[in-house]
Amino acid sequence: MSEKTASETASGSPENAGAGASLIDGKAFAKNLRQRTADEVRAFHEKHGVTPGLAVVLVGNDPASEVYVRNKALETHRVGMRSFMHMLPETTSEASLLHLIERLNEDPEIHGILVQLPLPKHIDPFCVTNAIAPNKDVDGLGEVNAGRLMTGLPGIIPCTPLGCLMLLKSELGDLRGLNATVIGASNLVGKPMALLLLNEGCTVSICHIDTVDPAAMSRTADILVVATGKRGLVKKDWVKPGATVIDVGITRIPTEGGKTRLVGDVDFDEVAPIAGRITPVPGGVGPMTIACLLRNTLKAARMSVGDKACKESGDKNWLPY
Ligand code: GUN
Repeated sequence: MSEKTASETASGSPENAGAGASLIDGKAFAKNLRQRTADEVRAFHEKHGVTPGLAVVLVGNDPASEVYVRNKALETHRVGMRSFMHMLPETTSEASLLHLIERLNEDPEIHGILVQLPLPKHIDPFCVTNAIAPNKDVDGLGEVNAGRLMTGLPGIIPCTPLGCLMLLKSELGDLRGLNATVIGASNLVGKPMALLLLNEGCTVSICHIDTVDPAAMSRTADILVVATGKRGLVKKDWVKPGATVIDVGITRIPTEGGKTRLVGDVDFDEVAPIAGRITPVPGGVGPMTIACLLRNTLKAARMSVGDKACKESGDKNWLPY
């Protein structure tokens, strides 16, 4: 997508001079996607008199989660949707959270429901995500949507892996026959990412905490997706020359002068000269997550009125690409 090469944004050390990996500009892609969503929200309202509504629930005061949910609300408004925020205290019981979800499930003004994770320890996240009505489960984490992805049926796809897949398809086109390695096996990113790549015809390996030699598995990959939360885990000897590298990790680290900066799970300065394409952190996968959440909310609103616009606009199997 971007004409910029990784060497223009790497730290500028001499060994990076002339490095060739092109940067995958997730920020620009997400901006385009949000614009398209805003246009479609307007057209949807004109056709049906319905404004898509997204409810976001946060339990507790985790500072990072507070920033995420506020950004979600802001972006929801920006594309012309309605945002309903529920900020609940840390002491909220599982029963009262489930009661709120029941109310949101029945509310016709709400088309999408997201409960921000992680939840406080006394609340079972599986019980909560499965309480969300499948057609409002815009995170795609409940067992119905997860099962649909597993069996290759149309459903709602988790936002971060969906964003990664959109970037990959826009960069590489047809993914059939490519070797893909996903590092990290979470329900939120790693597992759905692997299934999406499998459904696209890739040969997929998944590495996790017990994998004996993740570097060797990674070196086989034409597509390497990394989602572990371990900053700088992936070094240059993990990467096949020319591979497309998608870095989902976001860790905030302190820098000199009391400031902070974001880094990924991939050692960017080492890997960028070897990779064919790479997502930066920040500005790669991060902006895609909220853009895809908005896409999923529009899709849920369309499903609520039986609108086939997804199909009409060329979306394969209602996938909101
Ligand atoms: N916490 C971090 N990422 C996510 C996400 O994509 N969805 C939810 N619900 N919580 C998160």
